[in-house]
Amino acid sequence: MAVTADSAGEDITMKKNNDIKTILNENRMFAPSDEFASGSHIGSREEYDTLYHQSIDNPEQFWDRIANELHWFKKWDRVLNSENAPFFSWFDNAKTNLAYNCVDRHLGSALRNKAALIWEGEPGDQRILTYWELYREVNKFANALKNLGIKKGDRIAIYLPMIPELAISMLACARLGAVHSVIFAGFSAESIRDRVNDCQARMVITSDASWRKGNILPLKNIVDEAVAECPSIRDVVVVRRSPASTFPCHIKEGRDHWYHRLIESVSMVCPAEEMDSEDLLYLLYTSGTTGKPKGIIHTTGGYMVYAYLTMKYVFDIKPEDVFWCTADIGWVTGHSYVVYGPLINGATCVMYEGAPDWPDRGRFWEIVEKYGVSILYTAPTAIRTFMKWGAEWPAKFDLKSLRLLGTVGEPINPEAWIWYHKIIGGERCPIVDTWWQTETGGIMITPLPGCIPAKPGSAGLPFFGIEVDILTDEGKPADAGYLVIKKPWPGMLRGIYGDQDRYKNTYWSKWPNVYFPADGARRDDDGYFWILGRVDDVVNVSGHRIGTAELESVFVEHKGVCESAVIGVRHEVKGQALVAFVTLREEFKVHEDFEQELADWVTAKIGKFAVPEKIIFTADLPKTRSGKIMRRLLRDIADGTALGNITTLADPSVIASLKTKYEED
Ligand code: PRX
Repeated sequence: MAVTADSAGEDITMKKNNDIKTILNENRMFAPSDEFASGSHIGSREEYDTLYHQSIDNPEQFWDRIANELHWFKKWDRVLNSENAPFFSWFDNAKTNLAYNCVDRHLGSALRNKAALIWEGEPGDQRILTYWELYREVNKFANALKNLGIKKGDRIAIYLPMIPELAISMLACARLGAVHSVIFAGFSAESIRDRVNDCQARMVITSDASWRKGNILPLKNIVDEAVAECPSIRDVVVVRRSPASTFPCHIKEGRDHWYHRLIESVSMVCPAEEMDSEDLLYLLYTSGTTGKPKGIIHTTGGYMVYAYLTMKYVFDIKPEDVFWCTADIGWVTGHSYVVYGPLINGATCVMYEGAPDWPDRGRFWEIVEKYGVSILYTAPTAIRTFMKWGAEWPAKFDLKSLRLLGTVGEPINPEAWIWYHKIIGGERCPIVDTWWQTETGGIMITPLPGCIPAKPGSAGLPFFGIEVDILTDEGKPADAGYLVIKKPWPGMLRGIYGDQDRYKNTYWSKWPNVYFPADGARRDDDGYFWILGRVDDVVNVSGHRIGTAELESVFVEHKGVCESAVIGVRHEVKGQALVAFVTLREEFKVHEDFEQELADWVTAKIGKFAVPEKIIFTADLPKTRSGKIMRRLLRDIADGTALGNITTLADPSVIASLKTKYEED
């Protein structure tokens, strides 16, 4: 397959030929047991087909019916408004509140005293919040925010580890109509600064510290450094996470407030703001092909309906389930399937703070056993790590409570799928491989567990309301090429904060009226989709999107670096890993530890997760005569494959010496 797609105008033949071959050989099908199917929400292929066709032929009727299952202060005038496409709107003029739907809506039923969140800290501490207790906590904190002057529409950055206050803060914002922008707690001060300044956040909610592999990390110090360059920040709220006596935390009078003090003497009743369906709910920054992260906009009504329905059907959620999504809330998976999706369905959700190998490699399985987790949702990179650690770790624990497994973030290789199925699922649990993006708000393609037999490595079939196709560069339907979505759906992004032209150009302009997610895909004879990875300059490392252009700019900001090219290469555990090719300034004297210095530089500028696996110093980079770096050739070198067409190179000797250098390194 030749997919031409490169923002730099270079010709890239997608390096997926080997993948395609493995995938083509993968003919195994795993159907759910009769027992699973008969007890599930959608238990037969006929039922799926009927609902799917209804949702595509008559989307407004379909989504109208689903939205009616939730609480609205005022119903909509119309379901979908496409007049100003691609600026679609959903549930016009309706009023609702997502936090109300996640919490208050359940208080009048038996769910009131059910566990909403089961939280476990890395050191082993535990907190269980029933729906009633969650209601109380969210209301108190919403009142505390109000007392600090927060009102509807204000942007609030949240930089917290995986502790209950993270979910509580998001819900408190949603209750008041404040817009949260959660920043993954592995990001650097500079990354926080850029995100805060882009959306002009008024407040940061953070903690004094976070736990990671037995160590306490000083989160608040990182926020202090960031906020020094964020004029829009008026208040910083600090959750106490460390043992108070051992960990000092600087509190700046007038700006910083302890969370526990703020909620000491506030009322536990705070009315939920009546939000317009299209009012902003949250921003979440994600990497794109240019250096600047995009603030993806999600609004209230459509996101709510989509998170609700995908959670219900994809995870076949039932009142007795204990659902555990291992993603950090700093990424979209945590937004939709740790917080909003489970709570809106009245589910019990496990939240774990720490590392999977602390204090040992059995921690995840210990948690599954301890809380009787019945649905586990994790990432292929985690599964490959568990495979590496060996089946003896899960074997120490009783995993029989599990009934359904899921994966997300990148294509799962069939070996990892089979391992997950056998070793974790005891060959009895269906696996839902779920394809979606920060931009899509919720799951888009997946084999629904009770009715669609899974094929290891395939994301299966589209979810209700999602019309998927594959197009060639010319926009013609094909069996392999670019994945596209041909209809708007309620959970879709509504734009990029402060840059609606970029929204239109990035997602809606490759072909008219078609959403372009920038992934390549293949469709087999059964109509199953096989995702082949990104077709742009975004690399997926351990399920995290990193824009290579962003990383290149960070390198070039270093005083010793002249130019850099960053590419993604295959990696056994991480899926993809980053390799950076760097040329240095002539006058700059390289010292022995320079590679480490650059790694520290990236850690400081973006975060540790963005540090390349390899940094190669080179005198020159391969360029076309017009001066464009030919990343395709760098990928060939890194993959060890034969070099593609080099006729357009300005100086062919560069590539030969680079190849030798790479192989020596
Ligand atoms: O390339 C696809 C890959 O992850 C990208 C989206 O990344 P992000 O916005 O960070 O969201 C990740 C979690 C939803 C997609 O464009 N991706 C995600 N899920 C899958 C996947 N690739 C293959 N199979 C999946 N199940």
